[in-house]
Amino acid sequence: MSNPTPELFDRSKAIIIAGESDWHGKTVDGVDWHIYKGDAKEVLQILPENIFDCVVTSPPYYWLRDYGVDQQIGQEETIDDYVNSISTIMDEVFRVLKPEGVLFLNLGDTYYSGKGKSQGSDRKSSKRRFGLRAVDKSGGLGIGIRPKSIIGIPWRVAIEMSKRNWILRSPIIWHRTYRLPEAVTDRPRRSYEFVFMFVKSRKYHFDRQRLIDQKIEEDMWTIAARPKATNGIDTAPFPDELVERCLDIGCPPGGSVLDPFAGSGTTLRVAVCSGRPSTGIDLNPEFCKYMVNELRGY
Ligand SMILES: C[S@@+](CC[C@H](N)C(=O)[O-])C[C@H]1O[C@@H](n2cnc3c(N)ncnc32)[C@H](O)[C@@H]1O
Repeated sequence: MSNPTPELFDRSKAIIIAGESDWHGKTVDGVDWHIYKGDAKEVLQILPENIFDCVVTSPPYYWLRDYGVDQQIGQEETIDDYVNSISTIMDEVFRVLKPEGVLFLNLGDTYYSGKGKSQGSDRKSSKRRFGLRAVDKSGGLGIGIRPKSIIGIPWRVAIEMSKRNWILRSPIIWHRTYRLPEAVTDRPRRSYEFVFMFVKSRKYHFDRQRLIDQKIEEDMWTIAARPKATNGIDTAPFPDELVERCLDIGCPPGGSVLDPFAGSGTTLRVAVCSGRPSTGIDLNPEFCKYMVNELRGY
């Protein structure tokens, strides 16, 4: 990853500038967007500090899916390694976020199966490149957890981030009205995930009136999950409405937005459509190309 050229930050150029691993353009309304292909930590390290007003992001969940690229998050052998990977990237997010900025971090949980190698043909594992997943191995994931337990990943990450200087202001429940695709019969099926609202200072941008006006539960958001992608890429995208709500309450009009795990670019698309310049990072080159093509149309 080379340093971005000064040209990439020249806001007067209403064109797309394509580098080897970064793209920059403007919407027809003149709203800037940037896309960087690379590892989130490495890319964030080359960005200046205190430049973003709001971050809305959803990292890969632990052993839930294979994004097909080396260096991807989510395939760590131990829980501690996964928590550390996410928290270390969030350390960099802390640095690039303005003092009055807000981070919305969407995280889901994973069950520890500990059942070993699957007998028979498992549709999911046949797609995985890495053989036996850490969550299927015996040994309790290094923390002595018993098979069939939910790991508690979101809170493990949130607590680690709190130790690293973040202020956790609100654990928001995203109640997904399309259930997660689970076939279990011996426990309740899951219907929610967390969106943690973190800040870095005591004073920050927050427009609570937007929640009051919508007459909703303020910390429980019922929003339908996106149906399975049909556009040729499957990033497990979050719904536009989730991003809209985060930006409504946590980002001033015209404020700059970041998604360090941008995937199909939901955060960037919603942000530029509301007049907010946005930056996305993703490791997968196909997803980056998809985002560039999408944003070209705005
Ligand atoms: C859950 S998806 C994000 C989906 C996105 N919110 C959307 O709406 O499409 C997580 C993304 O993180 C990317 N990713 C995985 N490891 C990464 C890393 N180390 N650095 C940057 N991106 C990474 C994956 O390629 C994937 O697109």
